[in-house]
Amino acid sequence: MNYIPTNEQESLNTPFLYDIADRRQRQKQCRSGGVLSVISEEGITGTDDTASLYDANIIRIAIRTASNQPQIANRAMDFTHKLISIIFPVLTILFLLFFLPPFLIFKLISYIFRSFFPENVAGKAVLITGASSGIGEQLAYEYARKGARLALVARREDRLREVADEARRLGSPDVLIFPADVSKPEDCKSFINEAVNYFGRLDHLVNNAAVIQLSMFEDVTRISDFDRIMSTNFWGSVYGAHFAVPHLRKNRGKIIVIASIAGWLPVPKHCFYSAAKAALIGFYETLRVEFGSDIGITIVFPGLIYTDMVLQQAYSSEIQTGFIPGQTAEGCAKSIVRSACRGDVYLTEPSWYRMFWLLKMLCPDLLDSMSLLSLVGRHRFTKKTS
Ligand SMILES: NC(=O)c1ccc[n+]([C@@H]2O[C@H](COP(=O)([O-])OP(=O)(O)OC[C@H]3O[C@@H](n4cnc5c(N)ncnc54)[C@H](OP(=O)(O)O)[C@@H]3O)[C@@H](O)[C@H]2O)c1
Repeated sequence: MNYIPTNEQESLNTPFLYDIADRRQRQKQCRSGGVLSVISEEGITGTDDTASLYDANIIRIAIRTASNQPQIANRAMDFTHKLISIIFPVLTILFLLFFLPPFLIFKLISYIFRSFFPENVAGKAVLITGASSGIGEQLAYEYARKGARLALVARREDRLREVADEARRLGSPDVLIFPADVSKPEDCKSFINEAVNYFGRLDHLVNNAAVIQLSMFEDVTRISDFDRIMSTNFWGSVYGAHFAVPHLRKNRGKIIVIASIAGWLPVPKHCFYSAAKAALIGFYETLRVEFGSDIGITIVFPGLIYTDMVLQQAYSSEIQTGFIPGQTAEGCAKSIVRSACRGDVYLTEPSWYRMFWLLKMLCPDLLDSMSLLSLVGRHRFTKKTS
C-alpha cells in the first residue's frame, strides 16, 4: 500500500487521504471496492476497523482504488454467500428430516445402554475443587457412596476436614484434603501432582470451585474489582485441567465442568459471572473435540441450586429468585455423578431448564423479558433513577 502525505491532492486513481469524520465519502469508497487503511500522523498504521481506536483529529484514511479484478472477485464472493444462504438452510432441513430420526434412535439406544452399564468409580481417584460447601461438598458425598477415593480442594481447611470425615463415613476408602486457591497455578500444580503421587492415578477431575459477584455493568466503578471472577471461575478451571490432562489420558478419565445456565441465559447483574461461565463452556467444548474419546467431558448447567452462593444475603438482596423453584445441592450432585458415570456430554439440572434453550433459539426477546423479572423490586435501573 502506498500512502501519500496528508496535504497532497486527492485523486480518484491514486491513493488519497481525508478526515475520518468524512464517513459518507469513506462508505462510498468501500462500496466501490476501495481498499481502506488507516494511517495516523504519529505513523501508526492499521485497518479501517481500528480507525475508531485512534484520535479522530489525527487520523487520516488512505484509500487505494481497487482495480477491476478484485471488484469482480468480491462481487462473485458476495453472490456465492447469498446463494449459500438460500440453499444451505433448505439442504440442512432436508438432511435433518432424513438423518434425525435414525440418529435420535441411535442416541436413545446408546443412552439406555450407558444408563444400564455406567462407569463404576469404586476405588477410582476423583479430585473435586470447591468441595468445602454446596454442590462440591455434596459431590464428595455422592462419589464417597460409590466407593471412590477422593482429593478435596478448597480454601477453608476446617470445612474440608469436616467434609472429608463425612465422606469417609459414607464409604470412601481414602480421602485427601488440599487447602488451596484454584486461581493460583502453583497451587493447582501441587494438588494435582500430590493427588496423583498418592493415588497413583487420576480418573475424574471435577472443576466446581467458583465465586459470584453481582452488579449492573453501569454501576461498576473499577473493572479490576471483578478480576477474581475470571481468575477463579475460568482460569481456576483451566490450570487444574492443564496439569491433570496427561494423567487423565492414561486411564481414559473424565473432566466434569460445573458451568451454569448463566453461561448462555442472560441474567441481569451477572455479566462478569456469565462471561466467565461462557468462556468455560467454549473452552471445554473445544477440548472435547481435541481429546476425542481419550478424555470424556461432561459440561453441567445448573439452574438455581440452594447453596451458600445464592442463599447469602448479598445475592438475595440483589436478585429476585422467589418465583423460580430451586433444586437442592444433594439432588443436583446425584444427577451430576450419575451423568458423569454415564458419559453424558451435557447435563442441565433441573432438566426443565432445557426449555429455556429452546426459547433462546426461537424467541430470544421473550427470554430477555422473562429474565428481567429477576430484578423486579431490586434496584432495577440504578443509573436512570439515581
Ligand atoms: N448455586 C447455584 O444456583 C449455581 C447455579 C449455577 C452454577 N453454579 C455453580 O456451581 C458450582 C458450585 O457452587 P455452589 O453453588 O456450590 O457455591 P458455594 O457453596 O459457594 O461453593 C463454592 C465452592 O468453591 C470454593 N472456592 C471458591 N473460590 C475458590 C478458590 N479460589 N479456590 C478454591 N476453592 C474456591 C468454595 O470454597 P472456599 O470458600 O473454602 O474456598 C466453595 O467450596 C460453582 O461453579 C457455581 O458457579 C451454582
